[in-house]
Amino acid sequence: MIDSEILPTIDAPRVALRWLTDADASSLFSIFSDPEVMRYWSSPPLADIEGARGLLADIHEYFRQQTLFQWGIARRTDDMVIGTCTLFHIDLSNRRAELGYALGRDHWKNGYMQEALGAILGFSFDILNMHRIEADVDPRNISSVKTLERLGFQREGYLRERWLVGGEIQDALFYGLLRREWQSSRLA
Ligand SMILES: CC(C)(COP(=O)(O)OP(=O)(O)OC[C@H]1O[C@@H](n2cnc3c(N)ncnc32)[C@H](O)[C@@H]1OP(=O)(O)O)[C@@H](O)C(=O)NCCC(=O)NCCS
Repeated sequence: MIDSEILPTIDAPRVALRWLTDADASSLFSIFSDPEVMRYWSSPPLADIEGARGLLADIHEYFRQQTLFQWGIARRTDDMVIGTCTLFHIDLSNRRAELGYALGRDHWKNGYMQEALGAILGFSFDILNMHRIEADVDPRNISSVKTLERLGFQREGYLRERWLVGGEIQDALFYGLLRREWQSSRLA
């Protein structure tokens, strides 16, 4: 599906979506060890830098298997990774994938994720030829809900008690964005 050794870089106005390397382990650790960032994530916060190295190894392995694509969101000014965007549950026969995303807390409320996800959606529909992109979000995760709805995602379902994370049962809101909706929102 992606015929190269690493993920292609995708440009957005203030950030670039790029391949993550070993040099990004400490940035990944600072993002994914923060309990506030991980509050509604599907796994607990990273405990140590080894956890970040393990995460990187998984990202590279899943890319090799072409089952999950996780880009670093790098600030254009200094190339520092401030978050990640992921396409996972990639299903080529049905031309769909699920979207995941996280930003370091210091970078919230600047519109960086909106830019990054806009670029990933363009890549998903135009280059990967996806028909549908999905997202699963905790109903209490208001910032994430707003981010999806700003991008045109439609609320499609409410799944009760879908997750059990750190001993807490969590509900899920399911969102979807169709190719034609994305294309018409770009023309508007
Ligand atoms: C979900 C998450 C990425 C949203 O971050 P965010 O910074 O609120 O999202 P965006 O980048 O889309 O920024 C939009 C906000 O920036 C504001 N903003 C400020 N400057 C802006 C600019 N130049 N352009 C656009 N928006 C701007 C917007 O008004 C908006 O604020 P609002 O939501 O209060 O209206 C973040 O909360 C996060 O990483 N959470 C933890 C991980 C997580 O839960 N991931 C989702 C799992 S489903």
